[in-house]
Amino acid sequence: MKRKPRIFSVSNQKGGVGKTTTTVNLATAIAALEKKVLIIDLDPQGNATVSVGLQRAMGGKNSYTVLTGQDTVASSAQKTIIPYLDVIPASKELLGVDIELADMENPQFYLKKALEGVHEYDYIFVDCPPAVGLLTMNALVASNSVIVPVQCEYLALEGVADLMKTIERVKKNFNNTLDLHGIVMTMYDGRSNLAKSVINDVRDFFGTKVYNTVIPRNVRVPEAPSHGKPVMLYDFRSVGAQSYIQLAGEVLKREKEFAHG
Ligand SMILES: Nc1ncnc2c1ncn2[C@@H]1O[C@H](COP(=O)(O)OP(=O)(O)OP(=O)(O)O)[C@@H](O)[C@H]1O
Ligand SMILES: [Mg+2]
Repeated sequence: MKRKPRIFSVSNQKGGVGKTTTTVNLATAIAALEKKVLIIDLDPQGNATVSVGLQRAMGGKNSYTVLTGQDTVASSAQKTIIPYLDVIPASKELLGVDIELADMENPQFYLKKALEGVHEYDYIFVDCPPAVGLLTMNALVASNSVIVPVQCEYLALEGVADLMKTIERVKKNFNNTLDLHGIVMTMYDGRSNLAKSVINDVRDFFGTKVYNTVIPRNVRVPEAPSHGKPVMLYDFRSVGAQSYIQLAGEVLKREKEFAHG
């Protein structure tokens, strides 16, 4: 049966806030429910690729060749160690995209075009780089929704305001149905009063757009990628794994609510 995937960008131009961790573990938790899931690693760093047990591409088919129309999604998606979860690996060539596409007509629409007619997946997650260049633009233009990880730390909201402006700009000019799916607070340290007050501030500002699930700081989370595994496979019982499973439930619940208007 043909189905249209729901496409999510996981984005925040601030570096190191948990974009890749959220992409990988959310995608894994949803794949565990036997939904077909694809991760598109659109960050030249290739951290998402490595986190699901593959290597960053050295030539061959990858997210750069898919973005630029040289290869199809179907021929470039690779199986991961997780059933139901595929990945299109990143390559260093992505570093050149901003310059390469700048003079093209409609440079923001390449990923959208590449994803047209893709029916093999229920969910696609695009891991964005920490910048608002053409890679992030392409992700936002191709997506139904944006998930924004925000780290529970001082100045957490800095950058998020800019991201909201970017989302509005994309909505206005390129993709009027794009919406903010939700904000996920990451790396929460329960002993820190600062972290608590940051969460309160973000909730005051964004209200119910902030998921109830808060991802705690947990040492198992950064350990997992060095074993080429999502934390659910590395240590299923860890609070990191369990909190991403909880987040996946919340994301899917919100999806149902969207679908029923
Ligand atoms: N819940 C957590 N507990 C502890 N460490 C975490 C947690 N979430 C993420 N980290 C670690 O924090 C670092 C940054 O996370 P991650 O790579 O997901 O951020 P990012 O936003 O994708 O970064 P970049 O902007 O460089 O792409 C990583 O080393 C990751 O393992
Ligand atoms: Mg990342």
